[in-house]
Amino acid sequence: MHLAPSILAADLADLAGALRLCEDGGADWVHVDVMDGRFVPNLTFGIPVVAALKRRTRLPLDVHLMVEEPSRLMEEYVRAGAAGITVHWEAETHLHRALTALRQWGVRAGVALNPATPVELLQDVLGTADHVLLMSVNPGFAGQAFIPETLEKARRLQAMARRSGRPLSIGMDGGLGRGNIRAALLAGVDFAVAGSAVFAAADPVQEMLALRQAAHAETV
Ligand code: DX5
Ligand code: ZN
Repeated sequence: MHLAPSILAADLADLAGALRLCEDGGADWVHVDVMDGRFVPNLTFGIPVVAALKRRTRLPLDVHLMVEEPSRLMEEYVRAGAAGITVHWEAETHLHRALTALRQWGVRAGVALNPATPVELLQDVLGTADHVLLMSVNPGFAGQAFIPETLEKARRLQAMARRSGRPLSIGMDGGLGRGNIRAALLAGVDFAVAGSAVFAAADPVQEMLALRQAAHAETV
């Protein structure tokens, strides 16, 4: 299981410290939640913040755009140093065009789905996306409760990807922790986004290791 800690749940007055914790914990990606106050009722990280993060870490930045019309903004986030961009299915009318552009710019192209959006709507972009991010909370805030129906969506999406013969990485975002990360893995999830589980822990570095162990433990 790849791990992408979400710095939304870190001490926002010490983002450099959060990046160090991600590096020390062996994170695969740093998940950056960009919110516009319109698609979701919260405002977070602008383009200069992503550029500043990029200067402070070698870890790839996974930018989750919770914004309306992400195609208006995504090129600037790529220039700022994002290694992957995820746009919401619900927010982008021209999804195929957006994903194709992301790939042309050499970044990982992702689509995120809100809890109420069925995975079947992705059938015709499976070959155009590098990953799908299944929201297991309604986006907007860290620290919300996991929506268990998302596991079934992951199983359905994995089956769709297999049938299509296309490689697809499946991520899950929201409410993940030691208690459900193995269920996510078994449902076909190969990268987990975790905010509060990591940064509200007494020892975030240890918690990243514990999350990986919990994902791969045979006994759960
Ligand atoms: C939710 C964000 C998530 C969030 C995850 O809108 O997209 O990435 O930070 O935080 P937790 O793990 O606390 O639910
Ligand atoms: Zn996110």
